[in-house]
Amino acid sequence: MQKTNNQMLIIFGASGDLTARKLIPAIYSLYKGKHLPENFVVLGTSRSALTDGEFRKKVVQESTYLSNKLEKEDSDFINTFSEKIFYEDIGDNYETNYGRLSARIGDLNRKYETNDNYIFYLSTPPSLYEIIAKNLCDAGLTNEDEGWKRIIVEKPFGYSLSTAKELNTGLQKYFHENQIYRIDHYLGKETVQNLLVTRFANSIFEPLWNRNAIHHIEITNAETVGVEKRGGYYDKSGALRDMFQSHLLQIVSLIVMEPPINSSAEEIRNEKVKALKSLRIMTDEKILSENTIKGQYIASKLNGERLKGYREEEGVDPNSKTETFAAVKFFVDNWRWKDVPFYVRTAKRMPTKVTEVVIHFKTPHHQIFKDQNLGNKDNKLIIRIQPDEGILIKFGVKVPGQGFKVERANLDFYYSSLADSNIMQAYERLLLDCMQGDATLYARADEVEAAWAFVDPILDYWENGKEVKTYGYSAGVWGPKNSDDLIEGSLGWRNPGEQLIDDDGFCEIC
Ligand code: BG6
Repeated sequence: MQKTNNQMLIIFGASGDLTARKLIPAIYSLYKGKHLPENFVVLGTSRSALTDGEFRKKVVQESTYLSNKLEKEDSDFINTFSEKIFYEDIGDNYETNYGRLSARIGDLNRKYETNDNYIFYLSTPPSLYEIIAKNLCDAGLTNEDEGWKRIIVEKPFGYSLSTAKELNTGLQKYFHENQIYRIDHYLGKETVQNLLVTRFANSIFEPLWNRNAIHHIEITNAETVGVEKRGGYYDKSGALRDMFQSHLLQIVSLIVMEPPINSSAEEIRNEKVKALKSLRIMTDEKILSENTIKGQYIASKLNGERLKGYREEEGVDPNSKTETFAAVKFFVDNWRWKDVPFYVRTAKRMPTKVTEVVIHFKTPHHQIFKDQNLGNKDNKLIIRIQPDEGILIKFGVKVPGQGFKVERANLDFYYSSLADSNIMQAYERLLLDCMQGDATLYARADEVEAAWAFVDPILDYWENGKEVKTYGYSAGVWGPKNSDDLIEGSLGWRNPGEQLIDDDGFCEIC
């Protein structure tokens, strides 16, 4: 097991939802799993005036996000955990002098012997990243003469290519690139990491992982929820920025990338950047109109309940054209993937919450069983990222009886079958990696910029193009009616159910 140095985690924006919902529960699980170093403290800071005690109450003792876990524990165990958590009010705004914050960090560092090793976690709007980085630098808190210093930034990392570049240069004035950790919680998901292992730890997939054997690739990310209370943010963002540019292009890069030389962070990230740079950027309006579909959910009645349309949501402009459904078809310009279409869609208010990758293999080029409509029964490799995490291979088998009737059977693996292993939650895994200085699962500056370079022209077309349509879809259906038209040969999307094996063609061979 890698060693975790003594250290302090300093969270900016600590009174916000992310700290209570994700960060403190992740730290708690690390504490429970004995992954924290001997000397470890958390210092929260934000503009709210809170004492250590009030902050501890908010994020630990009275936190609804921890209550399930805490009710099984004795009070000494909970108190020892709470006592690792502190709070310092930053003042009226983040542009202030960080002298007081710096003094508090110094005190805690001496008292708890955290060896001058600090992680600064910015859970604030991106507009504050550079300001905070500068103030930390001015207060001498970025200096690595004694102890290391790292900074974690949350998404959205930029609003466009130019703003992402500005953010990168802004941060790089005060931190070296190897100190900057851009978090993408999808990379913390076991099943996303398993894409690398499936591809590169097996000899059976990689020889087929190319244009010779693969017909097309489909990625679906669907959520049942609407925008919930985040209408204000979401309306300025939309599905393409919120999910596609970050999480989904990260998944794409792991599918498209070439085998890295080894498993080091830099080698893996070098290959991911190359992959993202090889996505064919679409700039022509006709191509953009043929290869992208934009949709927005409208009100509907589901199981007797009326669900609001997107435009009725709190914080959303009643005339908004922001997309809650985005589907993009694209190609990858390199030797391996020439002419293989990739179809990626993401949406809110879908029938089920699911994220999966489907590798569709080509129909056998010489067909012996001609009358079997094998086209519908081609081999598929389904990698289920969530829920019901696992892998499924669909292949043809003979139906018992006369003749050669072919049916599709499933070969499946479920993560849940690895009963003994404790699967770390995404934030838990990513925080521990940063604590140990492992940036493999964090996005590098050039990776983020390559992703924006691909997304920018689509956004520009959707926002400024001529005759761009935003299609309505009722909450609870698989997107706009025309979304299947995107898939060549009218094969349509695989519209999966909650279970990995759910689909129309499923058949159990007894
Ligand atoms: C976030 C998006 O990054 O990911 C949200 O901002 C989305 O809009 C969420 O709901 C989905 O994450 P997960 O892990 O539930 O798939």
